[in-house]
Formats: sequence, structure tokens, C-alpha cells
Amino acid sequence: MKKLEQIYEGKAKKVYRTDDPALYLVEYKDDATAFDGQKKGTIVGKGAINNRMTNLLMVLLEQKGVPTHFVEERSDRETVVRKVDIIPLEVIVRNVSAGHFAQRYGVEEGIAFDEPTVEFSYKNDALGDPLLNAMHARALKLATGEEIDEIIRRALQVNGILQEFFLTVGIRLVDFKLEFGRADDGTILLADEISPDTCRLWDMETGEKLDKDRFRRDLGHVEEAYQEVMRRLATSKD
Ligand code: TMP
Ligand code: ASP
Repeated sequence: MKKLEQIYEGKAKKVYRTDDPALYLVEYKDDATAFDGQKKGTIVGKGAINNRMTNLLMVLLEQKGVPTHFVEERSDRETVVRKVDIIPLEVIVRNVSAGHFAQRYGVEEGIAFDEPTVEFSYKNDALGDPLLNAMHARALKLATGEEIDEIIRRALQVNGILQEFFLTVGIRLVDFKLEFGRADDGTILLADEISPDTCRLWDMETGEKLDKDRFRRDLGHVEEAYQEVMRRLATSKD
């Protein structure tokens, strides 16, 4: 498989066409941004960690019955994925209050919910990714009602699998963001990444943040936190 021209550059990844029209190649960068790109920086080694971690989790999810876009890891920063049309929804699952949830509703961080919540943002940088509900998503024709039902069901399934997995490595899965895509046959596949950029991961014992909040909030030891998550996942027996 040949890597052809770049077709998209996001804040953390680039996407390339390949000589197989059904496949794309994703390349992970060390670039980090926060607050709609207002804060910019580099997290050394992040691209390789996010690539490896995403793939490890995508394989686990596939094994447990979640259809994903993952095909194969091609190098430490590159992965072959199935070509999908990304549905422009950021699908956020939360188990514990944190981040924008805590801010928006004026509650402290760290309150465990009785059951997980799912929310959507409209993936649109120019608008600052505004929060929207399922009916808004349908009104904007971002997805059909059936697709939204499937996305919510899949997001909760992913949450159950990941929560259980992270527990085995001493990590509390606080919240995370998923993106889904439509394959050519209309199937909904889990796409994008699952990494410390897109999850809040707290050490179960100490509560220490092992995710991108260390960068967002200038907490220091950013690289070490990413490495620590990767170290735990790599040694897990799952
Ligand atoms: P939030 O509390 O800022 O809404 O974030 C919820 C989760 O989604 C958190 O784990 C970080 C992740 N996230 C992204 O992956 N991309 C984003 O642009 C934002 C705002 C959050
Ligand atoms: N990646 C997003 C941005 O640039 C936000 C975030 O992860 O906090 O702005």
C-alpha cells in the first residue's frame, strides 16, 4: 500500500489518501492545542503514544464487538484505516463530573454519576464546537435518527469496555470523546482516536491526572503522564 497525497490536516493528525481507494493513512503529530486552538504547544512523543494506544484500544473494542475503522499500524506514527465520512459530532461520554460539564453546570469535579451521560458537540471549529442535542443534529442533517440511536448505543458500549479495561491498570475513566464515520455501505464505524488527548484519565489511588488536562491547565509533567498511561497499557495482560 502506497501513501499518496495529504487530504486533510487536523490539529493532532494528518490524513493521506492511499493507492487503495477504500483505505486512508492517518499520521499522528506531537502538536497539541487547547481552547479551540488558542493555546498551542508540543508534547514530545505524543504522536507515537496516541497512535499505539488508539490501536491497542481499537483492537480490544473490535474483539468485544464494536466495529471500528482500524486496519493496521504501519509505523510508530502511522495507521491504515478504512475510509469513512466522519459524522461531524463529537460524542462525549462522562462517568464523573469534570471539565466543561463541571464549569457549565457549576459543580465541582470528581462527582461520580449514577449512570454515564452522553452529549454531542457540533464538530465545527469556526463555531467553537457548540453543544447540541440529538434533535438539533437531525435538524442540521448531520445524522439520521437511527444513526444517532446507534451512535449513543455504541458510545455506551465503548464506555463499558474501556471503563473495565482502564480499571485493570489502575485508571479511572472520567470522560472521553469519540467520533464515528460512515463507511461506503452506510455502516457506522468508530473512528478517530482514543488517547490521553481525548480522554480524562485519573490515577485510581492518587487521583493524579494522566491526560491532556496537564497541558490545558499547565500542571507540568505532561510527557511523563502520556508515557505512564502507555506503560500501564503495554504491560496489561488483557
Ligand atoms: P470537556 O469537559 O472539555 O467537554 O471534555 C470532555 C472530554 O472530551 C475530555 O475527555 C476531553 C475530550 N475533548 C476532546 O477530545 N476534544 C475537544 O475538543 C474537547 C473540548 C474535549
Ligand atoms: N483539541 C481542542 C482544541 O484545540 C480542545 C481540547 O482538547 O481541549 O482546541
